[in-house]
Amino acid sequence: MLAVECRDVWMIYKNFMEKGFVALSGVDVEIEEGELYGILGPNGAGKTTLISIMSTILVPTKGDVKVLGMDAFNETKKVRERINIASGIRLPWGMRVYECLKFYALCYGISDRRVIEKLLQDFELEKYRNVRFDELSAGNKQKLNLARAFINNPEVVFLDEPTANLDPDVAKRIREIILNIKKEKDVTIVLTTHNMKEAEMLCDRIAFMKNGKIVAEGSAEFLKRFVKSKEKIFVTLKNNNDKKALKLSHPYEIKDNKVVVYVESAEKSLAEVLFSIKSAGLEIESVKTEEITLEDVFVELAKSRQ
Ligand SMILES: Nc1ncnc2c1ncn2[C@@H]1O[C@H](COP(=O)(O)OP(=O)(O)OP(=O)(O)O)[C@@H](O)[C@H]1O
Ligand SMILES: [Mg+2]
Repeated sequence: MLAVECRDVWMIYKNFMEKGFVALSGVDVEIEEGELYGILGPNGAGKTTLISIMSTILVPTKGDVKVLGMDAFNETKKVRERINIASGIRLPWGMRVYECLKFYALCYGISDRRVIEKLLQDFELEKYRNVRFDELSAGNKQKLNLARAFINNPEVVFLDEPTANLDPDVAKRIREIILNIKKEKDVTIVLTTHNMKEAEMLCDRIAFMKNGKIVAEGSAEFLKRFVKSKEKIFVTLKNNNDKKALKLSHPYEIKDNKVVVYVESAEKSLAEVLFSIKSAGLEIESVKTEEITLEDVFVELAKSRQ
């Protein structure tokens, strides 16, 4: 059975524009049970709208959505018992960490303290159990927000930008916690992110959204095959070189004193690239090569596809 299934989902926000704003146009998604599915895309692509629809918070203008085999909008109550979502941080400001989790547990009729203790442990919140929400650091606020999303032992969890605006250490820790939970429980996780490395590290499959559509979908490795280049050659030039004369036969970019050349094989093209750079009268300070990243794929897709 699929954990989430969207068929031809449209979302048209009614606003000041006569025809409304088309935030999603004909989105089809199939997410397998137990999958960690990531949704990437530029600001305004429709990620939050889509995740809100999948989690029954928003009703689409048109289309079918099934969650765990149930119709998301005719069987909403049953769906909500078995899923959860963390989107933005909206928790009672005056409540202490333990109280807050207890409050949400009771909303689901859960009175077993062990459930809360386990979440405090999983999300490293034990020592903050008596701290008020408004006195927590941003990272701990987000950890509490995420812990809350697992309170009903959901079968599907939707996380909208779980590591947004956090320092790299906390973001890394949150990614590790998400992976641990995924390993321990048989849970399907759908998350959105702007962070390519995060998507690559966490997700079994990734969807790229642009202008309300999914323009590419697959594993990170599969998506990388979309772009012809497989490697990048970074050449740092000595300062004050005039780069106007530089012409290369491969796609390339110049940023300050760095030239990035996109090639199929760095091994095969390195000598030719360096020769062209020297022939243009430029002096080379250092050279390094790297495989292309998901970010390169994303930039390419954002440029090329509708
Ligand atoms: N309630 C609303 N009324 C009108 N337009 C809306 C509403 N909510 C979102 N939109 C518009 O729909 C589009 C998609 O928004 P959405 O929040 O889903 O994008 P997103 O991909 O999550 O962006 P971000 O990366 O910035 O979070 C945007 O252009 C946004 O302005
Ligand atoms: Mg969003």
